[in-house]
Amino acid sequence: MEDSPQRVIVTGASSGIGRELARQLAARGARVALGARREQELMEVAKECDELGGEALAILTDVSAQNQCKALIEQAVQAWGGIDMLINNAGISMHARFEDISDLGIYERIMRVNYLGAVACTHYALPYLKASRGRIVVISSLAGKTGVPTRTGYSASKHALHGFFDALRVELSGSGVSITIICPGYVATGIRRYIVGPDGRPENRSYQNETRFASVASCAGTILQSAERRKREVVMTATGKAGQFVKLFFPGLIDRIAQKKVRLRTQQGRTLSGEAGQ
Ligand SMILES: NC(=O)c1ccc[n+]([C@@H]2O[C@H](COP(=O)([O-])OP(=O)(O)OC[C@H]3O[C@@H](n4cnc5c(N)ncnc54)[C@H](OP(=O)(O)O)[C@@H]3O)[C@@H](O)[C@H]2O)c1
Repeated sequence: MEDSPQRVIVTGASSGIGRELARQLAARGARVALGARREQELMEVAKECDELGGEALAILTDVSAQNQCKALIEQAVQAWGGIDMLINNAGISMHARFEDISDLGIYERIMRVNYLGAVACTHYALPYLKASRGRIVVISSLAGKTGVPTRTGYSASKHALHGFFDALRVELSGSGVSITIICPGYVATGIRRYIVGPDGRPENRSYQNETRFASVASCAGTILQSAERRKREVVMTATGKAGQFVKLFFPGLIDRIAQKKVRLRTQQGRTLSGEAGQ
């Protein structure tokens, strides 16, 4: 497509959705700056992108540190002279009921990565995106549209993204910069294997049966198509779409569905990993 973004920054590009976004962009010949903390994984994604016909820059970045967000943007601009699209994708999740949490620092950590990281990257990228009449993409979640049990901090961080970027979109009207907020449902990635438990420590196991989740390829494809079309917000699953309307009239029903879904998926995941009855 003529208007395809050619100079793109993807945060959280070392695995999952971010990695697949980078791969699909590279296959279209884009230049992609990859930001994340794990060096080896990031280098592997950069190599894949180069092999796919793109040009990749691997930039070690912890988005919870403002100065590292600034360096990520500056290095991309230095290499390419500008930016056409920023994809705020880096994120961490949690799995614990609020009353079971022993380390409240988990709430601060999630906000620093999922919310403040996106705010900082956007702040430093904005002058360049205005110059290119570019695109900002934000990877939220269905948990950004409604509260999800055992994900209190995660839901809060994703709701914060909606508040911030909806307000920024109004400030940017007429500037040529678009903001697309994406709310995927369950996608088969590693996020549930590095989920943060009640004591704030990562737990290297999945709590859910991922066999019926959406693939990263279809999720990334939808994200890039929506960004290209400068859509405002995309809620990805049929349940998520219907849920938005149902919530307006029957919010209690949506609460019960969220509770049932999380309980069911968790039970399926335990059965799958031989933990039934625990
Ligand atoms: N998978 C799903 O079902 C699903 C559903 C809805 C929304 N989402 C959202 O999609 C996004 C991507 O998640 P995913 O499912 O692809 O999970 P993932 O495979 O675990 O990827 C998360 C990415 O974020 C990066 N990251 C984490 N902390 C970071 C930090 N402090 N600084 C920089 N990068 C950091 C990780 O890289 P490093 O560890 O190398 O830093 C990794 O590349 C997240 O925002 C998530 O909330 C996922």
